[in-house]
Amino acid sequence: MVFGRNSQCWCGSGLKYKNCHEAFDEKIAEFKRLGYKVPGHEIIKTPEQIAGTKKSAVINMACLDYVGKHIKAGITTQDIDDWVSKITKDMGGTPATLGYEGFPKSVCTSINSQVCHGIPSEEDVLEDGDIINVDCTTILDGYYADSSRMFMIGDVAPEAKKLVEDVHEAVRVGLAAVKPWKTLGDMGHAVNEFCKSKGYSVVREIGGHGVGLDFHEDPWVSYVTEPNTEMVMAPGLMFTIEPMVNMGKPDIFIDAENDWTVYTDDDSLSAQWEVQLVVTDDGYDLISW
Ligand code: MF3
Ligand code: CO
Ligand code: CO
Repeated sequence: MVFGRNSQCWCGSGLKYKNCHEAFDEKIAEFKRLGYKVPGHEIIKTPEQIAGTKKSAVINMACLDYVGKHIKAGITTQDIDDWVSKITKDMGGTPATLGYEGFPKSVCTSINSQVCHGIPSEEDVLEDGDIINVDCTTILDGYYADSSRMFMIGDVAPEAKKLVEDVHEAVRVGLAAVKPWKTLGDMGHAVNEFCKSKGYSVVREIGGHGVGLDFHEDPWVSYVTEPNTEMVMAPGLMFTIEPMVNMGKPDIFIDAENDWTVYTDDDSLSAQWEVQLVVTDDGYDLISW
């Protein structure tokens, strides 16, 4: 045994191990014996880490709230970048995407057939009828908050509006499947079945991720999974639900000029909402949305 039963728990609670995470560790060991993927201690968040991430999320959501109030036809995606950059810094945070693996801006803005990782630009003027995903990630005191929302510009075609609303619902369907000691595969399967029932397809190559102490931690979170597969959702596991959903085929390609922006292969519309959550003893706690 790594921890004496009377010594302090590894989670930093200050409690004795036997009164804190001992039962948790036994349960993890049992799932592991049964062949499940299980989280290591390093990705299980402590109460202190959860509180820190929530503070970071206050900034992240303030950015998205501001975008929601001011986004309209005629502005550029660079304007959105300027807003996010200023609000984040004014509130004491740092935009996580700026310089992340060479990404040049403080937020991702993905319009219409852009699936994700759109780069803000003075040349991209929002037009009546556009749908756009704004994906914001904040660092505060080393803690990462990551969430994204869709916005509709002016008069949007009914099928585009439906896609945006259905994908929001898909995230709620995913959240409803987040239950302690069930699997990420259960959650992803619920999302995929819902999207398929609406006639859409879920992007396979890009998904969600563990998050909190780093931008992208284990586990990788797919939404094209089978039930009872993938990592066990142990309490303290923090991750995103962020399905990218295409109106047409699931296939995508990456812009060869900037090596970032992902598009639908068939030019169909794509939508995505992202929430960040932590698994609790009786469900989940939303961190950022
Ligand atoms: N925020 C995105 C996510 O949800 C990641 C963007 S990475 C970037 O995982 F480099 F493109 F900004
Ligand atoms: Co994001
Ligand atoms: Co994310």
